[in-house]
Amino acid sequence: MKLSTLFVGGLASLAAAQTPAPYTDAKSGITFNYFAHSTGYFFGLALPANSTGNTDFIATIGGKGTGWSGTSLGGGMLGKLLILAWPNGQNIVSSFRKTANYGSPAVATGTFTQTSIPNGTYVNSTHWTYTFLCSKCILTDKTTFAPTDTAPSLGYAVNANAPSQKTNPASSVSKHSTEGQVVFDLKKAQNANFATWKTWAGKPAVAKRERPFLG
Ligand code: HEM
Ligand SMILES: *[C@@H]1O[C@H](CO)[C@@H](O)[C@H](O)[C@H]1NC(C)=O
Ligand SMILES: *[C@@H]1O[C@H](CO)[C@@H](O)[C@H](O)[C@H]1NC(C)=O
Ligand SMILES: *[C@@H]1O[C@H](CO)[C@@H](O)[C@H](O)[C@H]1NC(C)=O
Repeated sequence: MKLSTLFVGGLASLAAAQTPAPYTDAKSGITFNYFAHSTGYFFGLALPANSTGNTDFIATIGGKGTGWSGTSLGGGMLGKLLILAWPNGQNIVSSFRKTANYGSPAVATGTFTQTSIPNGTYVNSTHWTYTFLCSKCILTDKTTFAPTDTAPSLGYAVNANAPSQKTNPASSVSKHSTEGQVVFDLKKAQNANFATWKTWAGKPAVAKRERPFLG
């Protein structure tokens, strides 16, 4: 009885948090090492094949419905560089955050920047998806995974409720209802097409008029 309960519990947690695996977003054509959680949260990472001297990555983050998704580039919540994003109608609002205390993290500033990749950024009937180039985002100050890491843990946090000020990238959020960490095999994120994909950042989508991008 005990054993079978444990076994079922084990299966349930496997289903809830899968191992990151290669996934190609049909809308952008970019391939990520991609973690999908049963809440609808997902985070995917793409890196150049040659990691020497590289500080940049392309990420895709999203969720189901209208709540927020957050990723810790350093694993835990405190003292790590966080990415926080949510949908606002057909647009996505995103910011960098950092905090020393458990509570809604403040906007973080630094040399790091995020620039959206238009055809990887969309809202469909079930999910929202934000794909962006993160420049100068792989740091050596332990706030993110390090340039030499091969299998870092990244954090995830998700809340099905929208932030109080959806149009404001600096909005406070209420605490995540689900959080955790997951190991990313960075080799599986490396791709020879990275340099090409990188040039797509900030370019307007073809044959589509878009409203201004917030964040
Ligand atoms: C009012 C807002 C927030 C509060 C009060 C809060 C509080 C906490 C607390 C207390 C923990 C420790 C685990 C637990 O006891 O639940 C935690 C973990 C965590 N939080 Fe937050 N948090 C907030 C917002 C955020 C945001 C916006 C992000 C990401 C952008 C985030 C990312 C994480 C991560 C990655 C963990 C670590 C999970 C792990 O190590 O397993 N949190 N948070
Ligand atoms: C996404 O946009 C880029 C140009 O910005 C384009 O080269 C690429 O083919 C597009 N992806 C798909 C799957 O259409
Ligand atoms: C990787 O990049 C570094 C720095 O730009 C360069 O010195 C090295 O030759 C590259 N390695 C390969 C295998 O291309
Ligand atoms: C909406 O986009 C997400 C993320 O790309 C995808 O997983 C999902 O299948 C899409 N849903 C529909 C109804 O197309």
